Amino acid sequence: MGKLQDKVAVITGGASGIGAATARLFVSEGAKVVLVDLNEEKGKTFEKELKALNAEAFFIKANITSEEEVANIFKQTIETFGKVDVVFNNAGIGRVHPSHELEYSEWRNTVNVDLDGVFLVARESIREMLKTGGGTIVNTASMYGWVGSPGSAAYNAAKGGVVNLTRSLALEYAEQNIRINALCPGFIDTPIIPEESKQALAAATPLKRLGKPEEMAKAVLFMASDDSSFMTGNSLIVDGGYTAQ
Ligand SMILES: NC(=O)c1ccc[n+]([C@@H]2O[C@H](COP(=O)([O-])OP(=O)(O)OC[C@H]3O[C@@H](n4cnc5c(N)ncnc54)[C@H](O)[C@@H]3O)[C@@H](O)[C@H]2O)c1
Repeated sequence: MGKLQDKVAVITGGASGIGAATARLFVSEGAKVVLVDLNEEKGKTFEKELKALNAEAFFIKANITSEEEVANIFKQTIETFGKVDVVFNNAGIGRVHPSHELEYSEWRNTVNVDLDGVFLVARESIREMLKTGGGTIVNTASMYGWVGSPGSAAYNAAKGGVVNLTRSLALEYAEQNIRINALCPGFIDTPIIPEESKQALAAATPLKRLGKPEEMAKAVLFMASDDSSFMTGNSLIVDGGYTAQ
């Protein structure tokens, strides 16, 4: 019996990196998964890969910054699988740019995806979970929700926002049996990290390597499943020791 046997899980940013690794692990633990991403090509290819493993999975192209598209994710999930038990609220973007040269439009776009989008997905998840008596939500923040770094002001502000959004929503819905926690990754080897930065970021990490998406997936499974049944409002930092420095 898997840790998510017969649970229905929605995963945003599910076509790539940490989201895709988590979808693979969730499926192996018995979950039915809904992959949500802007990248239709990657999403459809990954849907086929999971179906070839006999997984119950489907892909929805959606932008998490659109209220309408987020509502549609949950509408389609309920129509297909009847409920939502777990949401991995993970889609995000990031780019390093000197703050004094940052256009306001780029600031807005980053905060819009990395904070507003996370709120919209969380709100819709909570609406569904209130109907069915509970569930678990894991928001992806970052170790940069805890510490600063040059050139990532918008990203870091948004991720800090996700850490406290997580605490606030967790307190608001604890009595309704909705547990809400956050994953705070360090530098993880996914397409969000430019190839040319990888060596330096590995060197800056005490364990002297980048994390693997699969290592994030295990932390997400912990927070999404009953293994973490007494945990809510927490942010789990999994960063190879970076923030211990
Ligand atoms: N890789 C790292 O080092 C690292 C570190 C800390 C936090 N994170 C966070 O982890 C999460 C996953 O990132 P990843 O490393 O797997 O990168 P990734 O680029 O492989 O995956 C992110 C996915 O999100 C999707 N996406 C982006 N904007 C979207 C939108 N508006 N609507 C729907 N989908 C959208 C992208 O298409 C992509 O498939 C992000 O929130 C990121 O900020 C990553």
